[in-house]
Amino acid sequence: MKAVEIIKDVYWVGGIDYDVRNFHGYSYTTHHGTTYNAYLITGEKTALIDAVYGPFSDEMFRRISSVVSTDEIQYVISNHAEMDHSGAVPEVLDRVKNATLVCTARATDVLKKHYPDGWNIQTVKTGEEVDLGGKTLRFYEAPMLHWPESMFTYYVEEEMLLPNDAFGQHYATEKRFSDEVDQNVLWREAEKYYANILWPLSRMVQRKIEEVVELGLPIKTIAPSHGLIWRKDPLQIVTRYLEWAKGERINSKVVITWDTMWQSTTKIARAIASGVNDEGLTPLLHLIPHSDRSDIMADLLEARGILVGCPTLHNDILPTVAPILSDLEVLKPVGKKCAAFGSYGWGGGSVKRIQESMERGKMDIVLEPFVLKWVPTDDELTKAYEYGREFARKVK
Ligand SMILES: Cc1cc2nc3c(=O)[nH]c(=O)nc-3n(C[C@H](O)[C@H](O)[C@H](O)COP(=O)(O)O)c2cc1C
Ligand SMILES: [Fe+2]
Ligand SMILES: [Fe+2]
Repeated sequence: MKAVEIIKDVYWVGGIDYDVRNFHGYSYTTHHGTTYNAYLITGEKTALIDAVYGPFSDEMFRRISSVVSTDEIQYVISNHAEMDHSGAVPEVLDRVKNATLVCTARATDVLKKHYPDGWNIQTVKTGEEVDLGGKTLRFYEAPMLHWPESMFTYYVEEEMLLPNDAFGQHYATEKRFSDEVDQNVLWREAEKYYANILWPLSRMVQRKIEEVVELGLPIKTIAPSHGLIWRKDPLQIVTRYLEWAKGERINSKVVITWDTMWQSTTKIARAIASGVNDEGLTPLLHLIPHSDRSDIMADLLEARGILVGCPTLHNDILPTVAPILSDLEVLKPVGKKCAAFGSYGWGGGSVKRIQESMERGKMDIVLEPFVLKWVPTDDELTKAYEYGREFARKVK
């Protein structure tokens, strides 16, 4: 296991996790695994920028050792205290007793609660620098991108931005650069990452990007903490983030997601899909138990809207639908056009519950819910089809 020199004297020394299939307590599936990217900058003084998740520390040390002896590390830069990047930091500082840990003031508290105290810590604020001997690392605090203590490191001379979890993708591969891999997987993983981690933070994403643009920092390379490094037209991912943050990147898709007990709600979903399709939009159908909710949210990021369906069970929704509603509430697809549908037997209740979640997510409910009793008649299915057309016209 060797380091990969990505530009002169900057080495990727991370870990490749081919096996991980979920992140953040199963809130997020990682079909393509991930990488934990750590970077080594060698020179008069040597710095390690971020580390790997604990179980990958051996892999990281092997890669570091292929370039320098570990005890040559003088600075350990911790951009983000989350364990997938800080897990191996205690071991580094244990091996290199004199190294200085560089992080934001807020990170000291976070790190202290994760690991035993006693490190040599240098806190930095936006604009402060560390000189590695003609190689300058400048720091930019990036609170809530995506934790309060997060920061970006900028390698001035090489115009390289190391933004940790921003601009990443969960994609395990032997390749290190975004231009070397399957572009569909790359962008899908970038989109899924944004939808499931950054969507609720969109206002902060927008502000931070505008701030960096105003600074006029030249950027030749963006080296995130997960997945591939952006070297070819690196600003394309920044532009994409801005579009996602502003909700400006909209395709012709409509997400239709539901669950059912006895297929009535499925019949409604299919009729609605047919109507959406006949208005020239593309319905994406997700029967909830068959689909992963983090994939559904990834589909929703650029979609025109979403229809959520559920029959009534005990005056409420099916438990399988609750996770999607939770996602709508916490990921907050602000302004996304939406509506609810479902079958019921007597008092109903499911669509009301769905609408409450849509309201909590600050979404835009464009139609009254589509509901019917028990099994749909042909006439009711025609109405469901018309409802789909109407929804499509509202979101076009
Ligand atoms: C266990 C159970 C509980 C139900 N609870 C309610 C209820 O509280 N209120 C209601 O209006 N319908 C209730 N229903 C009726 C269903 O909503 C109705 O059968 C509906 O057509 C099912 O739609 P589906 O075929 O999409 O599963 C319940 C049905 C079952 C099986
Ligand atoms: Fe993180
Ligand atoms: Fe991370």
